[in-house]
Amino acid sequence: MIKKIAVLTSGGDSPGMNAAIRSIVRIAYHKKIKVVGILNGYLGLCQNNMIKLNLSTVSNILNRGGTILGTARYLKFYKKKNREIAIENMKKKGINALIVIGGNGTYIGAYKLYKMNFPCIGIPGTIDNDIYGTDYTIGYSTALETVVQAIDKIRDTSCSHQRISIIEIMGRNCGDLTLFSAIAGGCEFIVIPEIPYNEKKLIDNIKKNIHLGNKNAIIAITEKICNVKELAKKIEIHIKKETRATILGHIQRGGSPVSFDRILAFKMSLFAIKLLLKKKFGKCIGIKNNKIIYYDLNYFSQSKHTKLKKKLIKLASNLY
Ligand code: F6P
Repeated sequence: MIKKIAVLTSGGDSPGMNAAIRSIVRIAYHKKIKVVGILNGYLGLCQNNMIKLNLSTVSNILNRGGTILGTARYLKFYKKKNREIAIENMKKKGINALIVIGGNGTYIGAYKLYKMNFPCIGIPGTIDNDIYGTDYTIGYSTALETVVQAIDKIRDTSCSHQRISIIEIMGRNCGDLTLFSAIAGGCEFIVIPEIPYNEKKLIDNIKKNIHLGNKNAIIAITEKICNVKELAKKIEIHIKKETRATILGHIQRGGSPVSFDRILAFKMSLFAIKLLLKKKFGKCIGIKNNKIIYYDLNYFSQSKHTKLKKKLIKLASNLY
């Protein structure tokens, strides 16, 4: 019988995590389940850093970015000894199950706990949208809006100065945030990790584009593909046109969640609690074709839709 559950947020924060925490507490309240909040992810779980959550502790958080529980990247959770401590800490408090909100790293932690017979459920919370099995993760849509607004603003100045502008966008190994913000922002060139990077081809194509009469160009590129400041220098040398690089950075992770993320957080939280009540553990929640679904927690590491992304880039930009 599930009477008391814990919730934690882990890894990079994302807008909508608070909406999920709030939904979990409110839905659990209706099902007469107590909720404990673990502070600072798996680190807090090992340190026994927990607080009681109730309707008043989660009021006025729905519209807030970040996570009221705090988060951490705690790599020592890979050590079995630390997971044993975590399970012990939860058992001592009478906690029957754990809901984790986060990305791939968070899911690995939950899967390992589940393999040690502790009931866990994962809710996808990351701006990267890189979790296999779900079309959207909580926070991605908000980050997308943030990036599109930034692209629009950079376009104003790029146009006025007739410059080439490079915009570095987060996403780790996943190009979703770059690709779809670039489509929405009309970027002339799109570079994502799913497609092998060819610097010479990129520069040659920008050159061609400028020779065709275009006065400026915007290049959207996912982080960690190259050093964008260096790329800007090379473009200036080869094309003889002023070039600036902007690294959007952590601004992409903050801000009030858009309605889509708030509603997604609610629907996924509801589904997570239903699964717990049905004793379906070791699962994670997703949304596919607008339907909330669940699947096994261990599917986390597969990459998504590379072919489709390639096709979209070809159609939406001046493919490099
Ligand atoms: O996973 C979310 C994310 O923002 C990635 O896009 C980025 O690579 C990483 O986290 C940055 O992590 P940190 O905030 O620890 O530097």
